[in-house]
Amino acid sequence: MPTPARQRERVSARALDEIVNRIVQERQATGAAGTDLLGLLLAARDENGGGGLSDAELRDEVMTLFLAGHETTATLLTFLFLGLSRRPDIQAQVHAEVRAALGNRAPEAVDLPQMPLLNACIQETLRLYPPAWLVPRQATGPVTVAGVPLQEGSNVSVNIFLIQRNARFWPQPDAFRPERWLGQTRAPGAFMPFGLGARMCIGNHLALLEAGVIAALVLRNSTLDVPGGGPTGLNADVTLGPDGPVMAEVSSES
Ligand code: HEM
Repeated sequence: MPTPARQRERVSARALDEIVNRIVQERQATGAAGTDLLGLLLAARDENGGGGLSDAELRDEVMTLFLAGHETTATLLTFLFLGLSRRPDIQAQVHAEVRAALGNRAPEAVDLPQMPLLNACIQETLRLYPPAWLVPRQATGPVTVAGVPLQEGSNVSVNIFLIQRNARFWPQPDAFRPERWLGQTRAPGAFMPFGLGARMCIGNHLALLEAGVIAALVLRNSTLDVPGGGPTGLNADVTLGPDGPVMAEVSSES
């Protein structure tokens, strides 16, 4: 008899499969691949003359991108809006910066360099609340890491959360201080929300672009306030999230 937790996992996995299959089938039914990422995957052909991706391979690729790309960026935005609602002074400056860069039009990727304070807030949010806070590795052979000998098969995790709150590199490590990013250099390896090395996040530029454009779109005409300051604890699961719902009051101007 599966445990309730295991049953919930199965239901969630089935729901995810249904979403991903629907995305793929709807596109296949249109008869045109399209020019987005799904279109590129559908059109991909083996360079040695083989065929395209099988249905199972296509499903796996879409599922990876869906899981790796969705919750991480959504969590980043949640923490960004939470942080800005706790610092109305900084939110007002970001609002002014976004208005000055855009006026009343919608943001595009090319606008982001004109918003250094917004970008600094995003970096500072990624430092304090790295959505992928722990990256696991398994030793493929005997190795010594930081003086600790490991046997083949040992599991090790890199704790990005702790690295990015290390007081040796970050004065007032627990404080939300976006200004630390403005025109300053940082120690290599002390900031790695997208990982480092061969397995670094392939979606890092897309994530920053998505987050920047969405944040600018929201903050251009609105002020966010989370009454009571919102949850203060963290839920450290596969992704790092707040330990409760974040309910914001949104005041919009025209
Ligand atoms: C704020 C948003 C994001 C954060 C913080 C984040 C973080 C990370 C981290 C830390 C890794 C490295 C894992 C490791 O070293 O084992 C990773 C890998 C990966 N990410 Fe992201 N990610 C984000 C957004 C995205 C997006 C938008 C996509 C794609 C649309 C994406 C796709 C991937 C994939 C496919 C990998 C695996 C790469 C590999 O193993 O070669 N991520 N991500």
